[in-house]
Amino acid sequence: MRDLRISVTDRCNFRCTYCMPFDEYQWIQRKEVLSFEEIERVARLFLGFGIEKVRLTGGEPLVRKDLHRLIARLKRIEGLPDISLTTNGALLADQASALHNAGLRRINVSIDTLRGDRFVALTKRGNLDDVLAGIFAAKKAGMSPIKLNAVVIRGTNDDEILDLVEFARNNGFEMRFIEYMDVGNANAWSLEKTVTKREILDIVHARFPVREVGRAHGSAPAVDYEFLDGAGEIGIIGSITEPFCSSCTRLRLTADGKLVTCLFAESGFDLKALLRSGASDDDIRTHVAGIWAARTDRFSDLRWEQLRSGAYAARDHKKIEMITLGG
Ligand SMILES: C[S@@+](CC[C@H](N)C(=O)[O-])C[C@H]1O[C@@H](n2cnc3c(N)ncnc32)[C@H](O)[C@@H]1O
Ligand code: SF4
Repeated sequence: MRDLRISVTDRCNFRCTYCMPFDEYQWIQRKEVLSFEEIERVARLFLGFGIEKVRLTGGEPLVRKDLHRLIARLKRIEGLPDISLTTNGALLADQASALHNAGLRRINVSIDTLRGDRFVALTKRGNLDDVLAGIFAAKKAGMSPIKLNAVVIRGTNDDEILDLVEFARNNGFEMRFIEYMDVGNANAWSLEKTVTKREILDIVHARFPVREVGRAHGSAPAVDYEFLDGAGEIGIIGSITEPFCSSCTRLRLTADGKLVTCLFAESGFDLKALLRSGASDDDIRTHVAGIWAARTDRFSDLRWEQLRSGAYAARDHKKIEMITLGG
């Protein structure tokens, strides 16, 4: 266990077609959402397991009121390393300096297209200019590195791979391309719509030659490539066609305190019940250690085997939506 992803809310101001396209959904009730105090306690408890990275996500984390206060609390935990945030960027322009003042440095902003009309079609409720303003506000506030996440979907935005790379290179950001995945059940995923890591790499390499650097650490989802001209790096996450289950050290905490050991899990373990039952830190640690030791997840490995033999049907697998478990 090295990498803890904390979802601070399942609410979102966008409705991305590839993630949560529905207007209505079974939202987590407010009283079920972990307080900042509870999240801080979990983070402290997990330190003892060797957690090296903590990422705040959602839903859209910036819709959670006063998120910067949570970051400030987490930053005060001695020994807690490397806090980062994944956001859609819509509210980032307003919050960038407060987040930076609270100690946030590493940020990933999702941006799948640089075309305004396409952005509206993809996110249904988003506005490209707001996100661009957010990205540049984060830069001005001093955040670094700023990574830009793009899910590449065939026939939707795959003609913009080089535009996105150019945008990132020109402005000192790092592009991270993500293979379109069958997370949850709300999107209309099919393998044909996934532009593979290999295809993305070939397109980038033909225009901006790169050399493979490898994974930032053994269990990182992205494989990094540096531009031969020295203008930075890109990362590509190939969880469909190059699954990395065997090196996965990620654990997710949902906004209502469920521990989820795989992005494609059907259910989680109710940590909130323990947190709110008066259980001691030791009891909770023992419980979590048991969950981790019993973990056998290798969904993406199996999916790739089945996809290659034609035996995989995404809708046969009931999974928690990404907006709920935290991307
Ligand atoms: C679930 S979002 C949560 C954080 C924030 N709302 C955002 O969009 O950045 C985290 C990441 O998951 C990615 N994502 C969502 N659905 C996906 C899918 N079907 N395949 C691949 N990546 C996906 C998003 O693009 C985003 O970069
Ligand atoms: S959680 Fe992120 S990816 Fe999902 S709908 Fe919201 S903005 Fe889009």
